[in-house]
Amino acid sequence: MVKWVVKKGKFYFPSKEMKKIAFVKNEKIYKEAGENPIKFWEKLAREGISWFKTWKKTYVEKPPYFKWFVGGKLNASYNCLDRHINTWRKNKIAIIWEPDIPNEKNRILSYYDLYREVNRFANALRELGVKKGDRVTIYLPMIPEIQISMLACARIGAIHSVVFSAFSPNALKTRILDAESKVLITADGYYRRGKLINLKQSADEAIEGTSIEKVVVVKRASNEINMKEGRDFWYDEIIKKSKNYCKPEIIDSEDVLFILYSSGTTGKPKAIVHTTGGYLVQAYWTAKWNFDLHDEDIFWCTSDLGWITGHTYVCYGPFLNGTTILMHESVPDYPQPDRWWEIIEKYGVTIFYTAPTAIRMLMKYGDEWVKKHDLSSLRILGSVGEPVDKDAWLWYFNVVGNGRCPIIDTWWQTETGGNLINALPGIGPFIPTVAGRAFPGTRASVLDEKGKPVKEGERGSLVLLPPFSPGMLRGLWKDEKRYIETYWSKYGNRIYYTGDGALIENGFIKITGREDDVLKVAGHRLANAEIEDAINRHKDVIESAVIGMPDPIKGEVPLALVILRKDVTPNEQLTNELIKLVEKEIGPIARPAKIIYVDDLPKTRSGKIMRRILKRLIKKEDLGDLSTLANPECVEKLKEILVSQNL
Ligand code: WTA
Repeated sequence: MVKWVVKKGKFYFPSKEMKKIAFVKNEKIYKEAGENPIKFWEKLAREGISWFKTWKKTYVEKPPYFKWFVGGKLNASYNCLDRHINTWRKNKIAIIWEPDIPNEKNRILSYYDLYREVNRFANALRELGVKKGDRVTIYLPMIPEIQISMLACARIGAIHSVVFSAFSPNALKTRILDAESKVLITADGYYRRGKLINLKQSADEAIEGTSIEKVVVVKRASNEINMKEGRDFWYDEIIKKSKNYCKPEIIDSEDVLFILYSSGTTGKPKAIVHTTGGYLVQAYWTAKWNFDLHDEDIFWCTSDLGWITGHTYVCYGPFLNGTTILMHESVPDYPQPDRWWEIIEKYGVTIFYTAPTAIRMLMKYGDEWVKKHDLSSLRILGSVGEPVDKDAWLWYFNVVGNGRCPIIDTWWQTETGGNLINALPGIGPFIPTVAGRAFPGTRASVLDEKGKPVKEGERGSLVLLPPFSPGMLRGLWKDEKRYIETYWSKYGNRIYYTGDGALIENGFIKITGREDDVLKVAGHRLANAEIEDAINRHKDVIESAVIGMPDPIKGEVPLALVILRKDVTPNEQLTNELIKLVEKEIGPIARPAKIIYVDDLPKTRSGKIMRRILKRLIKKEDLGDLSTLANPECVEKLKEILVSQNL
């Protein structure tokens, strides 16, 4: 069995075998790229992407706005598909799809299959009246039609907005209204743990009273659904009528490729805007270098397409590289806890990229589930979404990777479009709980409150510095004010504030977690305020505060502290109603793990709830100075309540 890493001193480094094949293996790349990042990215843009017309200016900044490859023309779908089908990759496998229920048939799509479907669906969307710049909302489960839909939109210059299929009808509705989409692409249903989920029913509920005029329905589960004459169309039927070829629209480098809703610190989700040229350049190169993607690789990133990780590493990044990807409809532990290990063995997956929450869950089931399978095909393991703790890192490394594979811990965000901080497989070092360094040609730093870089070992805020990276967000959809406030206020308009805390250890960046009011529940990004807004809708609730409570598997889970109207006594039914409300407004992923009723919450003199103090209370950290509170006496009381609840 090939060993892809060796231990040197305290850390792991790539082995000779890894160095031999890795695309990037010389540490010098960081220095060279850093000397002139704009030139560096310009070269990468030329080599990695096919342009219909070259750009006039590589980088233009008018802080806090930044543009890349200005004047360049290209098409994302052309880059992901057309350029492969004129090569030997024409019949190379693009997607291997594994269903939820193992004995159901898998699906295998070649690049040519994908190309044909995308072309036909692009024509069908045009027939439905979709034009360049229109938004199309995609609410699909993990089936290949989700990438087909994204690429079909990209082909005709429509802006896709993918909404995670486990989001509730209300969450979908909010996102449709904000994007003003006229077309929705959804499915009849799908399977999860063998159970049928009626997705169309949720979609029907969501589109009432929105701008949606046409709905395309993919047949996945053949469950019974309502089809509204004139509004709803079966995907299969409209595809059948469509022509085989759709000429790709010529897209400007700075035209929007997609928007993706993500949680910020307020109740309202914000749509992060990504443009075409820069995003594709970064998706291509970060996929290629961070995962060292070769033509022989089978790449499995387990993220749902509803998140940025799915966009960049289950669609654009690998397809730009002509890679074979694996996609699984469902969860890691159904029907048995070795479902994922079985899939890796079945297809000889070489690169596996997942989230710490999944690692922790699989770790809990025990080593024997992993050991039942031959995982010798694995070469690289990846992690994303939240800090990976040492236990999980070591288990992933020793048990899943059998001590042979590097762990690439990739830090990034919906906003950055692609991985930005990690250790490259051919360079290393691979250090438990440490992400690494900024991708070549990008700059990150850890600053104190005054904006000075922190010393080794001290905590600070993680920031990104100009010229950033080509794939960075270009704004928030229809919300300039929030864009400036969120990212460009803390340190000014040329320093991007990530919202994460970090420290430098041995010269490398270690991420410590969110500093703001954003939760990471099983890797899913949620805002405290979103959940509070849902709870506060209940007639008996005066106000609430939601904070993250540490959880051994999910990383953190929402804990709600709720103040009720004076005349109401808490009871189980009320608790259930509040949970239902959160599920209805957001979805089951946001469900509070615990609801505690309290009389008072710590507040500033201006009446703002101090979640920071609540967070420290729950983590049993030093509470710091309480003198700025309007009601410091409530803190002791809260402490007692938490103790009585075994928290
Ligand atoms: C967190 C997911 C530690 C971080 C790609 C970030 C991480 C937020 C890591 C973005 C990592 C992501 N180590 N923390 N390797 N990767 N995060 O937008 O807090 O869903 O700001 O994008 O996830 O979440 P988002």
